[in-house]
Amino acid sequence: MRTIRLTLALAAACAIAGHALAGAERITFPADYKSDFVYFLTSDRPDNNTVRDLYANLAAVESARDGAPLDHGSQFVMEVYAAVVDDADEPVLDADGRMQKGNLKALAVMEKQPGWGESYPEDIRNGDWEFGFFTGDGTLKADVDTRPCMECHLPFADDDYVIYLEDLVAKANE
Ligand code: HEC
Repeated sequence: MRTIRLTLALAAACAIAGHALAGAERITFPADYKSDFVYFLTSDRPDNNTVRDLYANLAAVESARDGAPLDHGSQFVMEVYAAVVDDADEPVLDADGRMQKGNLKALAVMEKQPGWGESYPEDIRNGDWEFGFFTGDGTLKADVDTRPCMECHLPFADDDYVIYLEDLVAKANE
């Protein structure tokens, strides 16, 4: 009985410790990203009718001058907006042929800190990056599985897992 209790207690402790160490909850949501971060790109995504505004913090921008890898402490916020669509669910384009932003759906955040990648197996690890999905007011969507985030960004290892690294480098060198 005693052994069983101990085993259960240890299992619970490990689950809690594991939860605290690995996962999106390690990310500090940058509440002031609109004023503190550098906006560097808008991505129109007709494939899923979203428009994305990309922001990087100063650590990311400054270390991007020389390309990858970015410094620890780097952070990205990507705002994901529903595109304005017509009755046929087609994006309504502006005079420049760009898609237009409707409601803010979510904020996708990436943060890189020393040792963070160590809790992931090599086949999924994105260096020391952690991924998190937040609501517009900065609340973590704790039920979102971030494994697909890592799987999709994994092929961009040469760019430190940042898909739009080239655009960030261009902005950093303006
Ligand atoms: C299906 C592939 C895919 C998945 C899954 C995915 N991403 Fe991305 N991510 C992209 C692409 C493509 C871009 C480039 C911007 C764009 O056009 O959407 C991007 C860009 C980003 C950026 C801006 C920095 C960069 O890499 O350019 C952040 C931050 C980000 N994603 C976070 C996340 C988070 C957090 C998740 C999971 C909740 C996630 N991504 C899941 C494909 C993916």
